[in-house]
Amino acid sequence: MTTATRQAEPEPAASAARVFPTGFTWGTATAAYQIEGAATLDGRTPSIWDTYSHTPGKVRNGDTGDVACDHYHRWREDVALMADLGVGAYRFSLSWPRIQPTGRGPAVQKGLDFYRRLVDELLEKGIQPVATLYHWDLPQELEDAGGWPERRTADRFAEYATLAADALGDRVQTWTTLNEPWCSAFLGYGSGVHAPGRTDQVAALRAAHHLNLAHGKAVQALRAALPSDARTSITLNVHHVRPLTDSAADRDAARRIDAVANRVFTGPLLHGEYPADLLRDTAHLTDWSFVRDGDAALAKQPLDFLGVNYYSPTLVSAASEEASHNSDGHGKSAYSPWPGADQVAFHQPPGATTAMGWAVDPSGMYDLLLRLHTDFPDLPLIITENGAAFDDYVDPSGEVRDPDRISYLHGHLTAVHRAIEAGVDVRGYFLWSLLDNFEWGYGYSKRFGAVYVDYPTGKRTPKASAGWYSEVARTGTIPVTDPTAG
Ligand code: FCB
Repeated sequence: MTTATRQAEPEPAASAARVFPTGFTWGTATAAYQIEGAATLDGRTPSIWDTYSHTPGKVRNGDTGDVACDHYHRWREDVALMADLGVGAYRFSLSWPRIQPTGRGPAVQKGLDFYRRLVDELLEKGIQPVATLYHWDLPQELEDAGGWPERRTADRFAEYATLAADALGDRVQTWTTLNEPWCSAFLGYGSGVHAPGRTDQVAALRAAHHLNLAHGKAVQALRAALPSDARTSITLNVHHVRPLTDSAADRDAARRIDAVANRVFTGPLLHGEYPADLLRDTAHLTDWSFVRDGDAALAKQPLDFLGVNYYSPTLVSAASEEASHNSDGHGKSAYSPWPGADQVAFHQPPGATTAMGWAVDPSGMYDLLLRLHTDFPDLPLIITENGAAFDDYVDPSGEVRDPDRISYLHGHLTAVHRAIEAGVDVRGYFLWSLLDNFEWGYGYSKRFGAVYVDYPTGKRTPKASAGWYSEVARTGTIPVTDPTAG
């Protein structure tokens, strides 16, 4: 090929790239109960997820987290996988019942040692640890004492935060209090498709409030125990709620879901008060007298960033004949996870879906980031989870080819990049997940990993998407066009 011909060609692929800002954090994420296993080792006692998964009929195939990915023993190999990926950060969660088995009293040294070793190995490989205090594994003893619907659980959580910060604060700089409190409150106590499996709408609202309170108290505890340059945050699965039509009834349906999915948390956490429309929508259920003076203000603590988990948008309308109130892709239940919004119907957004049945719609990511920026202009954002499950398998040549995941990631990272271009302060992106793992009520049937896990042997095989994401993390760049297209 002559030079002249080459000049006549369209732009080479390398220049047709989206370049992320310098310093943008590229990471992967996991959660303790989903990967660790070793459920009864070294003093760990059952969490609500141990109890729930061991209850017949709760989790698909009767799967439990007893062994999971055996990360408790294979952590060194898993950190090496991350180093191979070239990611700069790892978001993981601490298992509360491994550190403080009964949810009260002193910490168990062996539990702390596990996380200290893990963090040291990460730091050694140049990977920044991002610790989440609570990714849904409440010590069962605290549930037996009333769980999140009870106020004292918030006090226990703040004590646990102090233990964790005292033990790890010298080496973990970035902390998240809660992961997706919406799921803890409304799936755990409302629809019952998550542990502890209760189905009581008032208990769900009480749980939401005590999670907000727990967050506020934990941020205070963390700040008291951590060096001044530590960063604290919370991760919300902010729902991007769209009305089916522009009718007043459909817009009101979207408002109701936005209130009980999002503003029940962002109200107190970021504005220091509960939204008036949420209190109205739920007035037939409770007078909210469990909220004491000063609680919402206490929940509002300075945050260094907001963690955002996004997978798919939520499409709603006013209910017609039969309301599919319990939809939204979190599992079927006769009970609603949406107090105050029973007359809302959920719809499947158009287009392709993942193995979860969740719509693939990167525009939801873009719109959500723009909305968060409008609502909270001074708050930096980090995508703490995004990813997709597909029916992956190891092919005869030993490879796992997952073009659908690459396409999903490309689409969503393009949306993140466009949001940054539009002025949204997004600082990082964590791919869910490093490994295939225990996907809660779906057990091991859904694979979200960049790395395939063969559960009988524990063998890890990086998927094609791991190679793709590794290139992205190393270069901070994605191609403009979908690399799997055409
Ligand atoms: C989120 C959870 C995470 C994982 C993904 C698929 O809601 O935080 O643990 O289950 O969904």
